[in-house]
Amino acid sequence: MSDTRANKRFRSQEWFDNPNNPGMTALYVERYQNQSFTREELQSERPIIGIANTGSDLAPCNKIHVFLMDRIKAGIREAGGIPMEFPVHPIQETGKRPTAALDRNLAYLSLVEVLHGYPIDGVVLTTGCDKTTPAMLMGAATVDIPAIALNGGPMLDGWWQGKRAGSGMIVWESRRLLAEGKIDYEEFMARVCSSAPSLGHCNTMGTASTMNAMAEALGMSLTGNSAIPAPFRERMAMAYETGKRIVKMVYEDLKPSDIMTRQAFENAIVVNAAIGGSTNAPPHLQAVARHIGVELNVKDWETIGFDVPLMVNMQPAGEYLGEGFFRAGGVPAVMGELVKAGRIHTESMTATGNEMGANLAGCESLDRDVITTYDKPLRANAGFKVLSGNLFDSALMKTSVISDDFRKRFLSEPGNEGMFEARAVVFEGPEDYHDRVNDPDLKIDEKTILFIRGVGCVGYPGSAEVVNMLPPDSIIRQGINHLPTVGDGRQSGTSESPSILNASPESVVGGGLAYLQTGDRVRLDLNSSTMNALVPEDEWDARIAAWEPPELVNQTPWQEIYRTHVGQLSDGGCLELATAYQKVARTIPRDNH
Ligand code: FES
Ligand code: MG
Repeated sequence: MSDTRANKRFRSQEWFDNPNNPGMTALYVERYQNQSFTREELQSERPIIGIANTGSDLAPCNKIHVFLMDRIKAGIREAGGIPMEFPVHPIQETGKRPTAALDRNLAYLSLVEVLHGYPIDGVVLTTGCDKTTPAMLMGAATVDIPAIALNGGPMLDGWWQGKRAGSGMIVWESRRLLAEGKIDYEEFMARVCSSAPSLGHCNTMGTASTMNAMAEALGMSLTGNSAIPAPFRERMAMAYETGKRIVKMVYEDLKPSDIMTRQAFENAIVVNAAIGGSTNAPPHLQAVARHIGVELNVKDWETIGFDVPLMVNMQPAGEYLGEGFFRAGGVPAVMGELVKAGRIHTESMTATGNEMGANLAGCESLDRDVITTYDKPLRANAGFKVLSGNLFDSALMKTSVISDDFRKRFLSEPGNEGMFEARAVVFEGPEDYHDRVNDPDLKIDEKTILFIRGVGCVGYPGSAEVVNMLPPDSIIRQGINHLPTVGDGRQSGTSESPSILNASPESVVGGGLAYLQTGDRVRLDLNSSTMNALVPEDEWDARIAAWEPPELVNQTPWQEIYRTHVGQLSDGGCLELATAYQKVARTIPRDNH
């Protein structure tokens, strides 16, 4: 990519060096030069690089970025840029109520305002915890100035009594042990805390590791960025190199729209299946695609990704954690193996300034126990199924986590392989589930399907990670860990539950789940990717006619704004009006005085 600097003013010069409006220029310069910067720096025709800092005391998964700032800034300075760090609205998955998902779009909005309204020529997007990565990519997509993602990295591996203790996974396992009466609350706490031994984000292939792998597969970070554990020296070096690289990207005018093309999203979908990635990736990538203006459809996840094999032996689909994945070569090793199998568009442009194929030259698995080759995978067909029927237009099922036991109990009836029919029990949100799941009157047995509704983007609000419902204690005591679960919310990317989730449209806006009743029979057919309530059509129509939308209570002004403008998970859960701003957000705003 050639250096186009000679033909172009930096956008920051419109603030700091505008001969048409010397009064305003002075006003911009005087305040920025009173502490951190000199007038010479501000007016020196050097690019100003924003660093969007997602880490803070309130955002511990990304707190490492507070310590990486020095290295990022050193890299920017080394390459001739001027670094300007700024804070991002915190999005802490394990801290924010009612759900961090509500704040993805708020952090996105505020990033758009910062990138559009301040003298910034390029930006380092610090990523980590689940929604921070999509929020940053969405904002950069809308404003489309040169941008590069820097992950904070996963925590070190957790250990409990000689076994790996993975983020999230240890919670689900310990909850079952607690329900069975095998451990007490103190041991429960100790087990769960053992999974978080250092700074960093979740060490499983949950949504954080997945979304950072997606950023790398899209080409939006340096090669190898996503998997380096937070405390490793390689993470400090990656911060420095990322700082250096963004300055060059500004000189090259290499923008997100040059990188995040349809081909890049197809690469990301393939990588997601190979790594056993999170069910949260489809809505997040859909949102990024819509903000950059690329056509993507929820069904693409099945058509492009379903037949990709599982190649990464990492929890929740496998056994290892982040350190093992990094040492086996991380995302470049997975993508290198996928290149050999012809599954990657190698000509996609990336943030390195080179095409993806050049970045991956020579990359392959360094430990086949952790990252397999394409032809000797952990399992075949590891992508998502995208189901439809009278209960929803689309819902996802992550097939890479279907256990042998689950397959045997539900999907292996001779002559009916891949399908089953069962009685539904319906819960109105997680509170109702917790109140009633152990109620014997519900008659939940080992063949029941559990439904949860009212937990989508509008309903919750934000869409909650609650679809991976545990069976009643009595069923767990029989050794059954999973019943089929279905809902219009999401589930944690660390969950090993083969739930049917992200059902769109959601129940509170009149999606099919709204009309289901406890006792109805429901049929799943993975061969035709369908799920239907077996209710006679005239009765189903009568239920639709009698339906009244539930009253929704907003607790903050943002919740009301969000609910008014948010779309469905199948469309990325975007603020619908925001998807129309690509062109205008990329123009220079008016002077402020
Ligand atoms: Fe933040 Fe998992 S909770 S990364
Ligand atoms: Mg979560």
